[in-house]
Amino acid sequence: MSKPAATPPDWERYSADELEEAVRYHNRKYWIDNAPEISDPEFDRLVEVLRDKDPENAVLHAVGPAGADAESFDSETEKIAHDPPMLSLNKCYEEQTLLDWYDKFEGPALVTPKIDGVAATLRYDTHGELQVAATRGTGDVGEVMTEQARYVGNIPQSIDDGDLEVRGEAVMPVAVFRERFKHEYANPRNLTAGALKQKDPKKTANYEIRFFAFDLLGPRCDTESDKMRRLDELGFAVPEYELVERDEGQTYYDEVSENRATLKYETDGVVYKADDVAEQQRMGHTAHHPRYALAYKFAGDTGESVLHDVVWSVSRTGAINPVGIVEPVQLSGAMVSRVSLHNLAIMEQLGGDQGLTLGARVLMSRRGGVIPNLEEVIEPGDRPVEFPQQCPDCGAKTRRDNDVLVADHLEDCRSARLRQLRHFVSEMEIKGFGPKLLEQLYETEIVTSPPDFFTLTVEEMLPLERVGRKLAEKQIRRIDNARTVSAARFLRALGIDELSHHVSNILVDEYSSLDAIRSANPEELVELHTIGEIIAESVTTGLEENGELIDELLHHLDVEFPEDGDEEPEIPGSPLADRAVLFTGRMESMSRTQAKEEVEKRGGRCPSSVVRDLDYLVMGDADMEKFKTGWRTNKLKKVERYNNDGSQIEVIGESDFHSLLDDDDSLQGTLPIGDEK
Ligand code: IVH
Repeated sequence: MSKPAATPPDWERYSADELEEAVRYHNRKYWIDNAPEISDPEFDRLVEVLRDKDPENAVLHAVGPAGADAESFDSETEKIAHDPPMLSLNKCYEEQTLLDWYDKFEGPALVTPKIDGVAATLRYDTHGELQVAATRGTGDVGEVMTEQARYVGNIPQSIDDGDLEVRGEAVMPVAVFRERFKHEYANPRNLTAGALKQKDPKKTANYEIRFFAFDLLGPRCDTESDKMRRLDELGFAVPEYELVERDEGQTYYDEVSENRATLKYETDGVVYKADDVAEQQRMGHTAHHPRYALAYKFAGDTGESVLHDVVWSVSRTGAINPVGIVEPVQLSGAMVSRVSLHNLAIMEQLGGDQGLTLGARVLMSRRGGVIPNLEEVIEPGDRPVEFPQQCPDCGAKTRRDNDVLVADHLEDCRSARLRQLRHFVSEMEIKGFGPKLLEQLYETEIVTSPPDFFTLTVEEMLPLERVGRKLAEKQIRRIDNARTVSAARFLRALGIDELSHHVSNILVDEYSSLDAIRSANPEELVELHTIGEIIAESVTTGLEENGELIDELLHHLDVEFPEDGDEEPEIPGSPLADRAVLFTGRMESMSRTQAKEEVEKRGGRCPSSVVRDLDYLVMGDADMEKFKTGWRTNKLKKVERYNNDGSQIEVIGESDFHSLLDDDDSLQGTLPIGDEK
């Protein structure tokens, strides 16, 4: 097949043979060459058209990695047959299809987000021991990965029941991908597949894969909801689920679509299953999919565009980063015309041998429906992208330092400085310094670098536009309140690349002084759980380069580390160690005072209100149910706001809190809220 035209082909006009050829071609492009030429929704549409025209066509059973190339199905790996086969899902893209489907059975549907991971199955023997784990493979035959599954943190190795099978989806949580792998890998799904194929199963642990269960075979259950409850009781993590009637079907889809960024895993649609198992049996299945289930997929997450220009933006760390200007394209409901190209290395990689070119036809996406990303070049353009010789702002000469374009910016490189100041006040939680005020302070040379805030006076501020004495005094009080600061916050405020919330907490947990952190080398940091080489390198270099800034700030600031006493909990090794937990509302099983005591025994702390470095907000299970359907108190709104601002606060119910107390890694149904950045 030739390259696709700019507008997607009208598959309806193709013959079955042509469609079959197209399916084979694009399937191979996706799974083997790792270079898809059409978007996922477009591919799904192609398959649908073929299914309509020729439902028995053999290629319909071969869609996926195994169908793409029989040899890619590793011949050395042990196989098992799935009985019954692990079928696919029938897909749709519009409400009418969903409504027509609902008309075919009685009762509500159990609805879950469609998890974009690797389908897998777990068999437990009569004693409840995990006996075999396998991937879906072709659907009929899967690859055994029992030993690897022992290193998937939340797969129970033994359960209080036996002779049953649990099916679900293995994923790399979005947070793990973002923190550790996004620099080197295209997407979490491929990494998950790789993690489960590790020849040395212990290595699987390094990927922090998690398993979400959505099907139970063996025990008699009358409804899908019974299955979910039973899976939950047996200790499996299950995806968010709800019973939804026909007239609410679209609303629920819209909600998931809107909130998908708050889920732990990537999702590409919503799965509906008739809740009543007797109805399911009546409806039966085709060779491809059960008739009692339907996946309503999110369309429009990807789209084609043209790269018109690359502009260069000075980051707060002084790196000069490429930003693509593309023909505006509608993605997941928003117009996108700018896209970060990250750094020189990633930009070059995108362009292949000849590097990225202007005029190139490109595939754009919003990962998980949120952040715009240039996925790949479909057809190269005709003009090379030129790197600027000078900083677009201060004119300093640029040079390449590994993967990034840098410059020894002049003292007064405005963009870099303003960004640094903005980042500093935001991380230090010094409110009231909006962009206008900062610009004035910078231009009058009163504040040109973070330490200047701490010598700022009311009198210096008075001449500024729209600053009265009251405001000036308030700002000075705000600065004074920030003179004592937690070590983690201080580290983040430095604006060092990769020194995120997560990384700063790890450093503070691990070391007991700033000196110790500053003298750590990258090799040492890599030893710490969840810190990869790129992060380690970036953090150590950043700390070194900012040595002077740090010393100067320390003249004005009191940087606090958690006290020694906190470090030896009565109950060691708990996941609550060093975590900040806040309770809200009423809990059934214990009073707040008791709950606080339990957290503190485990080395955690309980701040008295929502703070930016809070880890968990715990509420009663009844409130949790309300929360899941959109109910928000002021505390919850604050959590949402902070999360949108980079915090990582998880909202959990009372039962999950108990799992944490019991040191149970299989936290279920936790709901991080807020847009991901
Ligand atoms: S229910 C056909 N629920 O999608 C069996 N499946 O594209 C019914 N999947 O093989 C499965 N998220 O592995 C169900 N919430 C979810 C799902 C889900 C992802 C997978 C499943 C299936 C594939 C089909």
